[in-house]
Amino acid sequence: MEKRTTLIGASVPRPDAVDKVRGEARYVDDLAFPGMLHVAVVRSPHPHAKVLSIDASKALGEPDVVCVVTHRDVPGANVVHVIYDDQPALADGVVRYIGEPVALVGAVSRRAARKATLEVRVEYEALPAVTDTRRALESGAPVICVPAAAEGGGNVFNRMVLVKGDVDTGFGQADVVVEGEYETGYQEHAYLEPQGAIAVPDEAGSMAVYASMQCPFYVQGAVAKALGLPLAKVRVVQTTTGGAFGGKEDVPSQIATLAALVAWTARRPAKLVLDRGEDVLTTSKRHPSRVHYRTGAKADGTITAIDVDVVLDAGAYQTLSSAVLWRSLVTAAGPYRVPNVHVVARSVATNTVPNGAFRGFGSPQVIFPHESQMDRIAERLGLDRAEVRRRNVLRPGDRTSTDHRIEESVGIAETLDRAVVLADWAERLSRVEAFNKTHADRHRGLGISCVLYGVGLGGKAPSLDKAGATMKLEADGSVTVAVGTVEMGQGLSTAILQVASEALGIPMERVHLAPMDTSRVPDGGPTVASRGTMMAALAVLDAARKLRERVVAVAREVGIPDAAAAERWSEIARAFWTRNVDPAVEGWAKTEPVSWDPTTGLGDAYPVYAFATHVAEVEVDLATGEAHVVDFAAAHDSGTILNRALAAGQVEGGIAQGLGFALSESIPQKEGRLVVNGLTTYRLPTIRDVPLNARVDFVEAAFPAGPFGMKGIGEVPLMAAHAAVARAVAHAMGRDPARYPLDPPYVRELLSASA
Ligand code: MTE
Ligand code: MOS
Repeated sequence: MEKRTTLIGASVPRPDAVDKVRGEARYVDDLAFPGMLHVAVVRSPHPHAKVLSIDASKALGEPDVVCVVTHRDVPGANVVHVIYDDQPALADGVVRYIGEPVALVGAVSRRAARKATLEVRVEYEALPAVTDTRRALESGAPVICVPAAAEGGGNVFNRMVLVKGDVDTGFGQADVVVEGEYETGYQEHAYLEPQGAIAVPDEAGSMAVYASMQCPFYVQGAVAKALGLPLAKVRVVQTTTGGAFGGKEDVPSQIATLAALVAWTARRPAKLVLDRGEDVLTTSKRHPSRVHYRTGAKADGTITAIDVDVVLDAGAYQTLSSAVLWRSLVTAAGPYRVPNVHVVARSVATNTVPNGAFRGFGSPQVIFPHESQMDRIAERLGLDRAEVRRRNVLRPGDRTSTDHRIEESVGIAETLDRAVVLADWAERLSRVEAFNKTHADRHRGLGISCVLYGVGLGGKAPSLDKAGATMKLEADGSVTVAVGTVEMGQGLSTAILQVASEALGIPMERVHLAPMDTSRVPDGGPTVASRGTMMAALAVLDAARKLRERVVAVAREVGIPDAAAAERWSEIARAFWTRNVDPAVEGWAKTEPVSWDPTTGLGDAYPVYAFATHVAEVEVDLATGEAHVVDFAAAHDSGTILNRALAAGQVEGGIAQGLGFALSESIPQKEGRLVVNGLTTYRLPTIRDVPLNARVDFVEAAFPAGPFGMKGIGEVPLMAAHAAVARAVAHAMGRDPARYPLDPPYVRELLSASA
């Protein structure tokens, strides 16, 4: 592992903060190009229908309208290329969800484009729609998805199985068995900046795309496929991205493809930016879930077996559902030693908006059930809830549920101990009990949750776990760095600058991170799965090592001793220039190969795991059913922390997003229609709902193969927070919730049910 000195771990302020706070950062909607058109989308009003005809003549008669594009105008393949190519770019004959793009209007103003969408006449013939997974799984249910995408047959997109040991034997050894059915609904990413892209026809028949996104190489692939261009002719540049949270993993491939189709047809730049209402109604969300758990444990609390059935509502097209579902499969046992595991996981097609990635992928959907089961076991056995977890958490040398023997960087037990101290668990429990004895109108509760998260794509997509970086020593001694993963608010660019200047031994002010541009760096995979910072940092370290070797050689030639290289850096850079030495290097990194077997679900699923324990205290108003978080403690093991303030920021943000998921966020769906009006009727937590006194700490169980021992943190805080909050509410009520959100009506319902 690299030696770390002053910069690693330091709470260096983010260089992107000033522009963002001053409103000077340029988001995609702030950009304009000469002759640029605005794109508006004609969308399906039906959850499932045949498209009989499209008549654009009236719209085309409008003075400001330049073109109307349908599937017939797609020069390449009419698909939004993600993993499976089942989602058409523009509907061809059938629509499968409300909001599905049918045609595009390109006009000289956004207003004119939107107005003209009402003048595109589309004739539909409604087909029977299937809008919930129960119905979709019934025999005889109409098959509503593109059959080629239904790997599991019928409406089942994916079916995955994990079998370790023998659950019957495991339940036979158990002194208690608890069983439960749990449901969660939609969660909206609520990034501050809605989805948007601008496509600009470029020289020699190429296309440039500027977009708000997480995965520029995915967008490059999608646009090339729809336009029928070689990848080299599509250049994708990330614009300042106002939050993503997984929502800009696959959706920008669609947005950019639609913008590119108008740009291609009109031979003019074309901008598509969704307004908030359209964004909330038509883009991916967290998969609603239905999960069944059976958990067996011995009298001392040791878990002997789990048997789990997971159903995720994928929506009408595959998009990222297989990757999301895989997380549910391999995370079902949490950070615990479970010798006998049986998991069946299915993602199911329905006539609803396609769901995708959301911080944690499919793991929150199993963490809520699993942590609930842990508490119920503790209660049945009369054991303390933290103690039951302590007896089961993975220790170095243990095997995960996929039978992965993990030796290094296993800090879950330390996070549990740290969180218990930070929360003053035992003392707080007695205070809570005393409070409840003296208050008839309000009750308090304490909840704890432990999580494991495999960093990267692991065994699901091993060919994506790589990263590239370029580094160029300029003639004045400043250094330009470029990486293939992106800043989306999480702090990657700051961490990368810290790593680069630490590795080169020069001040951060001398290093500049160039905007992410696919023509500048090799395909380094997506910025997802908490891998972005870790992988980019590894590639930067590789580049820095190569550049340093050259610096040392040139320094020697001009008589500067190694030790003085940092002080005389500018002199050395000048010598590169005068002596015609190549000042540019490329860095490359990949993770150790994983060996995971899709038939059994077993193997080394990920190169490394991050861990966390959260403890929440809530107060519940027994009359209104309102729950409020009053105290919070969080301990994380993400290996070495590169920037403490930013890592703590990730945790605080994850707590907010997690408590929103548990307590208030939801979108009802009625016959394929999402009942929500932008963010007006979507109940996000506000500053009054988040605990401002959260205590956050890190146990740094270094990952030897990570950059300076770091291993990824981005998604983990949300994953731990929601369950700690939900279990705290359960404790306060003395009732076990079976679904999210624990909003006032549901809490009142639970309180009024007999115990
Ligand atoms: N933090 C902010 N502020 N904004 C975001 O969009 N996305 C989360 C997390 N933290 C996100 C964020 C998600 S879903 C992921 S996968 C990670 O950041 C990705 O970044 P990293 O791999 O560099 O940690
Ligand atoms: Mo994060 S859901 O992996 O983009």
